[in-house]
Amino acid sequence: MDLVVRDGPEQVAQEAADIVCRVLAQRPDAVLGLPTGRTPLALYEELARRRREGAVSFRRATVFALDELLGLRVGDPRSFRAALQGAIVGRIDLDPARFHSPTGEGREHEDLIARVGGFDLLVLGIGRNGHIAFNEPGSDRASRTRRVTLAPGTIEEMRATFAPDPPPGEAVTIGVATILEARRAVMLAVGTGKAAAVARAVSGPIDASCPASWLRTHADALLLMDAAAAGRGA
Ligand code: GLP
Repeated sequence: MDLVVRDGPEQVAQEAADIVCRVLAQRPDAVLGLPTGRTPLALYEELARRRREGAVSFRRATVFALDELLGLRVGDPRSFRAALQGAIVGRIDLDPARFHSPTGEGREHEDLIARVGGFDLLVLGIGRNGHIAFNEPGSDRASRTRRVTLAPGTIEEMRATFAPDPPPGEAVTIGVATILEARRAVMLAVGTGKAAAVARAVSGPIDASCPASWLRTHADALLLMDAAAAGRGA
């Protein structure tokens, strides 16, 4: 896994946008995996801006969401599908028929990813506990898209968003093996809150205790982070 450290979140977003645009320039029908969360929002802002300026087109691309919360009604604004639709998908020239998010047990999602030839570029965030997509600590290296129970800390982080409702306790996520089969993976990390997870992903054991550590076994993975996430102070 290559490591790149930039000053702050804005530089990380610019560099990540450059990578996405380069992939699309080389392969206009690229298959992309895109995460939710706060981290990629600056990237999505930048991609929407470049699209408006005509610098990039997603017209022939395919986008897969990495995961989805379970137990929400279809169209719930707190769903990951809605979040991605608002942050990026609805702001670019992607064919809505080529935006896919997992549902239920996730088998169709896994099959569809395989049918279109796998990810050309998978963008990931990292959870504070080292999760990637919703592959929580303990996830199997060979796991595929499936229904999962969320870690207590992950559920807690969503409590404010869902109040007064209880946050969902289950999700459907692409698996660790699904992730590691991507031709290229770029994991984004910004802020001091991610420094401990980044340190474990980069120099801890490569095992299920920190699923992000498995990216070190990938032939073309990049961890793109800011100085704070790299533990170099804010
Ligand atoms: C979420 C998602 C992940 C995401 C991570 C970090 O729960 N399942 O795909 O990368 O947690 O989120 P954030 O960027 O908001 O810290």
